[in-house]
Amino acid sequence: MSQHVEARGLFKSFVDGERKVEVLRGVDLSVAPGERVAIVGPSGSGKSTLLHLLGGLDVPDRGRVEVDGVDLATLGGRRLAEFRNQKVGFVFQFHQLLPDFDALENVMLPGRIAGRALSWIETRARSLLDGVGLGARLDHFPSELSGGERQRVALCRALLLEPPLLLADEPTGNLDPATGDQVFDQLRDMAEHHGTTLVLVTHNPAIARRCGRVLTLDAGLLGEVARPSETPAP
Ligand SMILES: Nc1ncnc2c1ncn2[C@@H]1O[C@H](COP(=O)(O)OP(=O)(O)OP(=O)(O)O)[C@@H](O)[C@H]1O
Ligand SMILES: [Mg+2]
Repeated sequence: MSQHVEARGLFKSFVDGERKVEVLRGVDLSVAPGERVAIVGPSGSGKSTLLHLLGGLDVPDRGRVEVDGVDLATLGGRRLAEFRNQKVGFVFQFHQLLPDFDALENVMLPGRIAGRALSWIETRARSLLDGVGLGARLDHFPSELSGGERQRVALCRALLLEPPLLLADEPTGNLDPATGDQVFDQLRDMAEHHGTTLVLVTHNPAIARRCGRVLTLDAGLLGEVARPSETPAP
């Protein structure tokens, strides 16, 4: 059910007026099915860019992304859309909820796109929202929710279809420490229960440590951070 993610030699740059920003300069990454990996790194180092490439939301200038053995570059429009709807849950850094839909409708959306039975979708969406403490805010629109509440709605939306791969960009970034811990626990429980592969970007070292592996993105390259047990004693 969970998915293997393999990225090889990823290069990505953006042209900003006359300036070319080289963001990724040959990133390699291998994530085993069911593994939990945290990506940390300075602001602007390309963490969101990398996550977008892994989820097929953007394409690399060079290099290859494979999910479960499928090279994303070989997927055309409809198959890529299906891949994103059914295989990947994506929590965006800046949540991207639909403003004209209330919380419940936002969470139900991937289920409607996938053509699931409405009763199943609604029951599951209600239960997810309940689980993050938003059971009483189902009919609130994003503009009526705080940043952290919106982030929790976005997380529920990403989890609706129990995706085998979850890509989460700062899912606890706007939350107070206690709520952040609670949301991370929920995310981790879900990942454990379903064997979900999780790649998570975070600035929070405590949350990074609670993932199986921590990688640092810096100067366009991804490096492994030594696990505490591997750090030589001073
Ligand atoms: N669509 C775009 N057009 C132009 N430049 C971009 C675009 N997307 C990202 N960049 C640039 O690429 C660099 C990396 O951006 P990215 O959002 O991936 O960083 P990040 O590591 O996620 O940062 P943060 O921790 O602040 O979220 C930045 O310099 C950013 O300005
Ligand atoms: Mg980012």
